[in-house]
Formats: sequence, C-alpha cells, structure tokens
Amino acid sequence: MMRNILIFGAVVLSVLAFAGFKVSAQTAMEGAQKMDKNAKILVAYYSWSGNTKEVAEAIHEKVGGDLFEIQTVQSYPAEYRETTAQAKREINEGFRPELKGKVADMAQYDVVFIGSPNWWGTIAPAVSSFLESYDLNGKTVVPFVTHGGGGEQNTIRDLTAQCKGCTVKSGGWVGYGSRTFGISGWLEDLGFAD
Ligand SMILES: Cc1cc2nc3c(=O)[nH]c(=O)nc-3n(C[C@H](O)[C@H](O)[C@H](O)COP(=O)(O)O)c2cc1C
Repeated sequence: MMRNILIFGAVVLSVLAFAGFKVSAQTAMEGAQKMDKNAKILVAYYSWSGNTKEVAEAIHEKVGGDLFEIQTVQSYPAEYRETTAQAKREINEGFRPELKGKVADMAQYDVVFIGSPNWWGTIAPAVSSFLESYDLNGKTVVPFVTHGGGGEQNTIRDLTAQCKGCTVKSGGWVGYGSRTFGISGWLEDLGFAD
C-alpha cells in the first residue's frame, strides 16, 4: 500500500513538473517578439579566415532566405600579420574597398543579417563598403560579429552608425571565432523561432 502511495506521489509530481515547464516555456515564447513568417531574409557576411562564414551558414540554415558573401575585388594578403597591418591602415584612413558581385534586388528583403569579423575593434572595411552600397532604409538589420577574444568592442556601434535609415536589432550575435553553439536560442530570443 505504502509503495503504491509513493508511486502515485511520484507520478503526480512528474505531471506537475512537466506542466510547470510547459507554462514557463510558453511565457518565454510570448516574451519574444515574433518575426513575420513571410519576411524575406538575406544573410550577408564578410569573412577573411572562415569564422564569420561558418556563423553565417549556421544562421542561414535556421532562418532560410538567401546567403550572400561580401567579397573584395582586391583580395587581402594570405598572411595574418600583413592583413592586420593593411587593415589597420585602411580603418585609420576610412578606406572602402571595391566589392565583387552585387546582391540581386536588395529591395525585396525585409530583414538583413549582416556579419563581420572584429577588425581592430570595429567592422571590416568590406562591410562598411557593403553598407554604403545599398539602400537599407526601412529594413530590419541583425548584426553578427565574430572576434578573437576582444568581444564586441565598437563593432555593432559602428555598424549601426553606418547603416543609414535601417532598424538595427539590439542583441546582435557576438561570438568567439567560429562558435555557433547558442545560435538557435539567440534566434529564438530575437523572434525567429519556428
Ligand atoms: C585584420 C584583423 C584584425 C583583427 N582585429 C581583432 C580585434 O581587434 N579584436 C579581436 O578580438 N579579434 C581581432 N581579430 C580576430 C578576428 O576578429 C577573428 O579571428 C574572427 O573570428 C575572424 O573572422 P573570419 O574568420 O570570418 O575572418 C582580427 C583579425 C584580423 C585578420
């Protein structure tokens, strides 16, 4: 008899715990502002050594839409130190490299994810060129940044300032290297839940 009461108690507790979990999960979902399911999405990124590309692909896999790699006409040196030296000069001079290829019909997109590596505490010049090349007025822009230990620094602040007329979502992705762990939860928090 005692054994049956214990089993019954355990079952009741499990049901209550599960119900409680469901309620809290629902509350979290309601907290996130849902993105319009019909929104047209572009995931655009610049990547020199592949990390931001990996993050872009992980985002694209979750949100769908189109993927676009921002590429410069003149490629950067293959060597790290030469690239950092060139990047430092370019950032100090406000240089905007010429870009290869174009997004076909930018006007069709409602949401544009824009990814950059952290270069000297800011966004890569190629991303600045990208922001200046298109009319992003009225679009929702979701920034994502990868870094080598410095974190966000001025990346998202500078991207926001250079993104004329767009609404930059707060809480952009800032991840070390090619880390993609946590991307699903981040997208859900932004309202890109299934
Ligand atoms: C030119 C250059 C400058 C960089 N400056 C910084 C920096 O200031 N802070 C930082 O945390 N990482 C810095 N890094 C490291 C990159 O942000 C990091 O490795 C990033 O994930 C690279 O992305 P990618 O592989 O898409 O190019 C720099 C890397 C390069 C090539």
